Amino acid sequence: MPKNILITGGAGFIGSHVVRLMVEKYSNYNIYNLDKLTYAGNLENINDIKDKPNYHFIKADIVDSAEINKIIVENNITDILHLAAESHVDRSIESPLDFAMTNIIGTINLLNAAKNYWQKDYSAHRFYHISTDEVYGSLGSEGLFTELTSYDPHSPYSASKASSDHFVRAYHDTYGLQVVISNCSNNYGPNQFPEKLIPLCINNIIQEKPLPIYGDGKYTRDWLYVIDHARAIDEVFHFGKNGETYNIGGHNEWKNIDLVNLLCDIMDKKLNRTPGKSQELIKFVKDRPGHDLRYAIDASKIERDLGWKPSLQFSEGLEKTVDWYLENQSWTDAITHGSYMAYYEKHYLNR
Ligand code: NAD
Ligand code: TYD
Repeated sequence: MPKNILITGGAGFIGSHVVRLMVEKYSNYNIYNLDKLTYAGNLENINDIKDKPNYHFIKADIVDSAEINKIIVENNITDILHLAAESHVDRSIESPLDFAMTNIIGTINLLNAAKNYWQKDYSAHRFYHISTDEVYGSLGSEGLFTELTSYDPHSPYSASKASSDHFVRAYHDTYGLQVVISNCSNNYGPNQFPEKLIPLCINNIIQEKPLPIYGDGKYTRDWLYVIDHARAIDEVFHFGKNGETYNIGGHNEWKNIDLVNLLCDIMDKKLNRTPGKSQELIKFVKDRPGHDLRYAIDASKIERDLGWKPSLQFSEGLEKTVDWYLENQSWTDAITHGSYMAYYEKHYLNR
């Protein structure tokens, strides 16, 4: 069936991989990439598909409800994949209101526009909200997040995403909008903005700058290669059950310090440096306030019901990621000046 799909946040890290997958795999879908192009949005991420006939870009802010209504009507949007968000925990600690505006108000604006435009027959349309495992809060040393785990967000970022998830479910329960939600673990891979742990460390190793590890470095995350997340999103969008939630994860838990040590080993080899050289750059710094100890996903529902599983081992994915950053240093250079450097210096100075 032909569809006109609105993908929000398609110039960002995960969104750009989802847009590419959809444009290339489904020539019968028109893909409308809506993005405000904040500091995290970069059209370079999808330069390779910009001239495809089924790809369209719209610069807009999801906080602007009138504009969002207009775009959905004018383009006869049939389905929405909603990824646009303020996404960085550390920035949310500094400016929580920006997170409430985009992540909560922006999501409600999209839900309202969809509710109004699709009201004749909700069954013909789908609103897919892409969320995070951070809504579940923090695990101790044991256990996994399932779809039934209670929400317990701690950072302004995770609180805003939790709120948006609740609104999406409320529009399903109250108005009958067809929705599906997925909550994914930490992503890594090409095109990730270098304020997140893995690209920040790759960039700093290249430049022989300190590798800032918050607290004791024992915080644990479950890492998934971004293209495996995009593949999961494709499955959930097409085959996920109306009203359901799917947890997506890599069965791939790493303590931050172990991950950074592995990255140092890989980078020393790639850069022909003496083994152990990059590890000397590790610097333990002041902890993040409200830092969640451990995230880990039980992905058995999506594996059982939709047949999805991660395709890459972590060592392979990390090596691909390092290769991409080494081959695309101009991509990082273009965004690590100006406002990024101001953020970096403010955030890490005296930490
Ligand atoms: P990102 O910060 O790289 O990209 C976000 C995109 O949204 C950018 O292109 C930005 O310009 C756009 N955007 C921001 N505010 C906007 C607004 N008001 N209107 C329109 N566009 C706006 O984020 P990401 O890492 O690609 O994450 C995408 C989604 O996936 C988010 O909803 C995030 O919560 C979720 N998620 C991310 C991860 C992760 O590890 N990165 C894990 C699980 C879930
Ligand atoms: P991050 O990439 O910001 O993702 P999230 O906070 O969404 O999990 O951080 C991943 C982990 O790495 C988290 O435990 C915080 C830690 N971290 C550092 O130790 N140093 C850093 O400079 C950054 C950015 C993160």
